[in-house]
Amino acid sequence: MDRFRIQGPVRLAGRVRASGAKNAALPALAACLLASEPVELSRMPRVRDIRTMSRLLGHLGVASEELGDGTLRLTPGDPEAGAGEAPYELVKTMRAGVLSLGPLLARRGRARVSLPGGCAIGVRPVDQHLAGLAALGAEVRVEGGYVEARVPEPGKRLRGGRFRFAMPTVTGTENVLMAAVLAAGTSVLENCAREPEIGDLARLLTAMGARIEGAGTDTITVHGVAELGGARHEIIPDRIEGGTYLIGAALTGGDVTLEDAEPADLAPLLEKLAETGAAVETEGTRVRVSAPGELSSADVETAPHPRFPTDLQAQYLALMTAARGVASVSETVFENRFQHVPELARLGAVIEVRGGTAKVHGPTALSGAYVMATDLRASACLVLAALAARGETLVHRIYHLDRGYERMEEKLQSLGASVERVAGPEPD
Ligand code: EPZ
Repeated sequence: MDRFRIQGPVRLAGRVRASGAKNAALPALAACLLASEPVELSRMPRVRDIRTMSRLLGHLGVASEELGDGTLRLTPGDPEAGAGEAPYELVKTMRAGVLSLGPLLARRGRARVSLPGGCAIGVRPVDQHLAGLAALGAEVRVEGGYVEARVPEPGKRLRGGRFRFAMPTVTGTENVLMAAVLAAGTSVLENCAREPEIGDLARLLTAMGARIEGAGTDTITVHGVAELGGARHEIIPDRIEGGTYLIGAALTGGDVTLEDAEPADLAPLLEKLAETGAAVETEGTRVRVSAPGELSSADVETAPHPRFPTDLQAQYLALMTAARGVASVSETVFENRFQHVPELARLGAVIEVRGGTAKVHGPTALSGAYVMATDLRASACLVLAALAARGETLVHRIYHLDRGYERMEEKLQSLGASVERVAGPEPD
């Protein structure tokens, strides 16, 4: 398995362009299952999860073609292809495969989708996805590790309904939204997630002919239509990828300008960085973060948007190893998202975890070591810590990183870092 060899310490400096958002590109691909005409998606990040989702679409009869420069053309084909099934082999490597459930059910009247198992960061049930689809009239059951869903009367559509999510769930909101756009009648979805990626999905669906109000707020109203066409759509910038490089600037005492970003989507992070004493400037689609002096610790608690994102918790925790004081980092979204802590301790960090809160002592001088990545954002955290550590660090299992970061080593090298990918056999 590939690993990164990183020499530290380094001050990250320069400009880096944000890639398209993985967590917007995945539901956008799933939405192509609703289309009756080709859809062109630009600024698609070249990461493994996008390739896996494209393979799933191919299995379900939607052909994807690279048009170059990060643009994919998705052309709907035989509506019976793949028998409306998203197989375990594809969903097991990427939970977002569950996003095919709502569109398949709405467009074809039935769907069979492998239940995504748990993952490193938590149990992650999909009960709200299923309850939301049932509220639109679907018959839903779980059998043999698969979700089986269908519209009771063959040939009929889902029907508009009212549903309140028990908690703001990102892919839950996206799945039920994608089902509601082709339902007969009006649906009102409450306690929805408000992440920017949901607003982006609604923009794509609207360009395809859907009628949606309130995306990005906690209440979304959908007036169902009989059919959706095609569209051209540019994916929003990745606030998590961009935030990772900005945290890297602060952690290494560097000076980085993120280009082609959406500063508003990064607000929870930028406010926190300013609180630590880092210099934060925004101008148009640019965000500049520099940290000439010592930082101070600042407590943080993760929560659904617009509060501090859980997908930046690990990277922020690495930052707090360089800040003066004891920072309290609380994780409220996932129950098991501190697996990067023992690996940071291998680099010399001093962190105690009790329940859902980590206490990070700083500033601590880190030194290079062998560390192991356990999930996508934990691996980003270890890469950032390695950039600040004295000596050589080997970050193992970076296949986690490749799932969601486009050409990370090149981007870091362009900011002055010494990061080398050391090839190894592919993971199963
Ligand atoms: C999305 O996952 C993201 N993935 C995650 O990013 C991100 O961490 C998460 O939202 C939170 O922001 C994609 O968009 C593909 P949730 P999702 O449903 O939708 C509980 C990354 O690093 N819940 O909002 O799966 C759940 O267990 C990934 O890019 C239920 O109990 O997350 C969790 O505690 C990791 N029942 C909470 O809600 C349900 O039916 C929020 O999860 C659904 C969710």
